[in-house]
Amino acid sequence: MTTPSLPQCGNALIDDGHRRLMAALASLGEIATHPQNRAETLVGLKGFLDLLRDHFGIEEIIMRSVSHAGAERHARIHTRLIDTLGEQVDRLAFGAAFPATEVVARITDMLIEHELVTDSEYWTSLDAAERPDLPHPAPRPWDRSLDTGNARIDSHHRALSRLATRFHRLDGRTDTSHLADLLHGLNTLTRLHFRTEETLWPESDPHHALAHSRFLETLDHAGRRLLEGEMSPSAFARDVLDHWLDDHIRADDQPRFRVLVP
Ligand SMILES: [Fe+2]
Ligand SMILES: [Fe+2]
Ligand SMILES: [Fe+2]
Ligand SMILES: [Fe+2]
Repeated sequence: MTTPSLPQCGNALIDDGHRRLMAALASLGEIATHPQNRAETLVGLKGFLDLLRDHFGIEEIIMRSVSHAGAERHARIHTRLIDTLGEQVDRLAFGAAFPATEVVARITDMLIEHELVTDSEYWTSLDAAERPDLPHPAPRPWDRSLDTGNARIDSHHRALSRLATRFHRLDGRTDTSHLADLLHGLNTLTRLHFRTEETLWPESDPHHALAHSRFLETLDHAGRRLLEGEMSPSAFARDVLDHWLDDHIRADDQPRFRVLVP
């Protein structure tokens, strides 16, 4: 299993924590594939939870120190996530029949969603506090007319829009490693988001799924042009991401997910 990487937020300690967490999950995924390793997987999962608690603690300190407005809410989300993951591990420890690989895969999905959606909320506070030398294009305020009313879908759309804003920072940089990381994060979040939408929508919906898979092809193609230096990061954000997201949300997502709002 390859270790999924997350886009770097720029704070060395947080970025290092994300790298360690993803590496720990990737190696747990390997161990869990052998049913005879159930006990070892369980020990590894408990170790992973300790690592995660440490990471969340550090993140909360840093968010408060850069006066991130959402720090307290974010800390509550951490507590809930630790509780939920702890329950999953406990159920496995008490002999639940499902395979350990399932638990590791579920934890990996939950963590990726947290790091890409919720963590991206504090990036701008970090940028302003830690790198005042860099030009920081203020993120465009989210256009509320793009809300669908479904909290999970909207949180994904907002995170995708924050990721788009992030590309502007990389214009003119010759080192492509940050660009590759960000692109990888965008791909991961986009796929997770499409999967979520396709699962939430209860009926077979080939038109919507086709629109998603066409966009993934566009993203692959444009991503290659970006890494080859044929397209600037800000052009990629504006011409590929912004326009597609705006059009797709209005034309495809809102008509579907608005009706699911209680
Ligand atoms: Fe994090
Ligand atoms: Fe977090
Ligand atoms: Fe969609
Ligand atoms: Fe969507």
